[in-house]
Amino acid sequence: MDLQLSGKTAVVTGGSKGIGLAVVRLLIEEGVRVVAASRRPTPELKETGATHVAVDLSTAEGTAELADRALRELGGIDLLINNVGVGDTEDMVQGAVTSLLDLPDDAWRHSLDLHFFSALRLSRAVLPSLVERRGTIVNVSSIGARLVGGGPIDYNVAKAALNALTKVVAEQYGDRGVRAVTVSPGPVSTGVWTDPDGFIARVAREQGLTHEGLVEQLKERMGASTGRLSTPEEVARLIVFAAAPNNITGADLLVDGGIVKSA
Ligand SMILES: NC(=O)c1ccc[n+]([C@@H]2O[C@H](COP(=O)([O-])OP(=O)(O)OC[C@H]3O[C@@H](n4cnc5c(N)ncnc54)[C@H](OP(=O)(O)O)[C@@H]3O)[C@@H](O)[C@H]2O)c1
Repeated sequence: MDLQLSGKTAVVTGGSKGIGLAVVRLLIEEGVRVVAASRRPTPELKETGATHVAVDLSTAEGTAELADRALRELGGIDLLINNVGVGDTEDMVQGAVTSLLDLPDDAWRHSLDLHFFSALRLSRAVLPSLVERRGTIVNVSSIGARLVGGGPIDYNVAKAALNALTKVVAEQYGDRGVRAVTVSPGPVSTGVWTDPDGFIARVAREQGLTHEGLVEQLKERMGASTGRLSTPEEVARLIVFAAAPNNITGADLLVDGGIVKSA
């Protein structure tokens, strides 16, 4: 299937590893010119041929620098993939193991900066170009936005805000040819789940469990119909499909193996 993406330009945040890297690879295969941002480059990203911009996207300066550099490098932007997230594992762990009354403002602020404000700030900076080119925003959210009770509370609330922002963009810019969708993964086999020093491994240590033990426990508790995690490539395929020309907007597309049972 020709996705009609050849010759387009894209910005992918958090493009150095995990889901973002899989998106960069697919976009480049489709003939898209890509600028990818993260704090540090990786050899895997370098191999793709994408242009890397090293910025901290939890700051207003970082998002402004990325927008400037991407517009200069690409000349205009067709696709904005706001994928950055998780970030410093310690923050995510804090949100997962601390109660509502004890999680400090700083943790909430940082999580909202990284997962919500980065997307808001970049969208604002890039929307004039997207309007000019009838472009698309794909925001990578999480099923945590719907199942806010489980997992890191600040993260889930930030992702719920991201879902709402997506609908605002879809509603306000639809008549100018811009679409906005969220892709919401359930658990994905990136370092977040598999790295021995990643999020799940550290939560396991906090709870006195083994990494493997907690993974099995969570898989059981979440009740995916397929019984397994998604791969980064499976999530990336949905993101790239959503970014390609179509008539989907304001929607939240799930790739979660059937964890969310309701519509
Ligand atoms: N994995 C899952 O189970 C899962 C489930 C649901 C939703 N998601 C969502 O999917 C997205 C990607 O997750 P992933 O699993 O692929 O994560 P990952 O493998 O940890 O990759 C995160 C990416 O974001 C970059 N990043 C983190 N903090 C940053 C910052 N402050 N400034 C700039 N870049 C930053 C990282 O590079 P640097 O560290 O070098 O900056 C990396 O490129 C996130 O939005 C996450 O919330 C993931």
